[in-house]
Amino acid sequence: MDRESAEEDSLDSTLVELRQSNLPGGPVVVSVCITCKTADGGAVVGSEMFAAVRAALGADDPGVMVRPVQCLSVCKRPATVAVTSPDGYTFLFGDLQTESGTAALKSFVKSYQKSDYGLVPWRERADVLRKGMVARVPPMRWSPDDGRAPK
Ligand code: FES
Repeated sequence: MDRESAEEDSLDSTLVELRQSNLPGGPVVVSVCITCKTADGGAVVGSEMFAAVRAALGADDPGVMVRPVQCLSVCKRPATVAVTSPDGYTFLFGDLQTESGTAALKSFVKSYQKSDYGLVPWRERADVLRKGMVARVPPMRWSPDDGRAPK
C-alpha cells in the first residue's frame, strides 16, 4: 500500500468513527405508560399497549429495552410512549392505538438506532407518530450554541 492510499484509508476510518460517534449509545429505551385509560376515563389501554410493544420490540434486540412506566403526564392523549437513549433525543408520543402505534414504533426505533443522536428524520416517521408527537428533547451531551438540530 502506498502512502497516499494509506492516508485515504486513515481518513475514511476517521470519518466512519466520527459518524458513528453521533449514534445513540446504549440501549434505546421505550417507556410505555401502563396506566393510560381511554379518553372517557374508562378502560385502561396502557397495559395492552405495553404488551404489544414489548412483544414487537423487546424480544430479540438487545439494543432495545421496553419498560412499563406509570404516567408520562400526557393522560389526555392515551396511549402514551416515550423513546430515548443515553446519548440520544427523547421523543414523547400520544394518541397511539395498539396495533398501528406498535408498528410505527417498531419502524421508528430502527431509524432511531441509525440516526445521529437518534433524531429520526421527519420523512421516516409514520403518520401516527407525526400527529401524535408531544415533545422532542435534545440529548444532554449535544448542545450547540444556537440550538440547531444536527445535520
Ligand atoms: S396515565 Fe398515561 S400519561 Fe398519564
